[in-house]
Amino acid sequence: MKHKGYFICIEGLDKSGKTSQSILLVEALCRKGFDAVYTTEPSNGEIGRFIRKYVLHRKDRVSPIIEALLFAADRADHVENEIKPLLSEGKIIVSDRYVYSSLAYQGATGLSLDWIKEINKHVLQPDLSIYIDVSVETLMKRYGKEKSVMEQFETQKKVEKIYKNLVQEGKLIPVNGEQSIESAANEIFSIVLNYIII
Ligand code: TYD
Repeated sequence: MKHKGYFICIEGLDKSGKTSQSILLVEALCRKGFDAVYTTEPSNGEIGRFIRKYVLHRKDRVSPIIEALLFAADRADHVENEIKPLLSEGKIIVSDRYVYSSLAYQGATGLSLDWIKEINKHVLQPDLSIYIDVSVETLMKRYGKEKSVMEQFETQKKVEKIYKNLVQEGKLIPVNGEQSIESAANEIFSIVLNYIII
C-alpha cells in the first residue's frame, strides 16, 4: 500500500502504558498493510543513551536546564537521523514520547514553557499526538519501591497538570488509559485510522 509518511507521538505519565500502546499501534497498522515503525525518546542514539545513564539512572535529578537541553539535543538527533529518513520512505512513525514530554516534565520543574519551545523549535511537528490519560493515584500503585527520579507523586502531579493543559489547548488527543489495554488500543487505532484514511 503506497501512502505518504505520518508522524504520530504517544505521550503520558510514567507507567501510563504508552510503550505498550505504541507497540500495539504499530502492530495493528502493520496488520492493516501500513509500513509502521516504533521509535522512542530518550532515543537509542548516543545522546539518548547518555541521558538514560546521566539523567535517569541516578538518585537525584540533575539541573532542569541540563535536562531540557539534553532532551532537546536528543530530539534533534532523533528527528535528523531516524524520523526524517523513515518519513521520506513513506513510513508511519509512532514515537513513544516526543516534545510534549519536555514541556510536561521539564516545564513541571518551573522552567519557562516558552524557553522549552524555543530550544525545540527546529524539530518536526507531529501529525497526531495522543495522551494516555491515567490518574497519578492509579500510577502510584504501579510504581515499585525503587522509584525513578521522575516517579514521585508531586512530580507526576505537576507533569499531569501540563499534559492536561495541552489537552485543553487541543495539542494532545486524550485517550482513557484506565480502561482495558485492548479497549484503549482500539480507541487509539481508530483515531489514527480516521486521520490517515481521510
Ligand atoms: P520512559 O518513557 O518512561 O522510558 P522507559 O520506559 O525506558 O523508562 O521515559 C523516561 C523518562 O524520561 C520519563 O520519566 C520521562 C523523561 N523524559 C523527560 O523528562 N523529558 C523528555 O523530553 C523525555 C522525552 C522524557
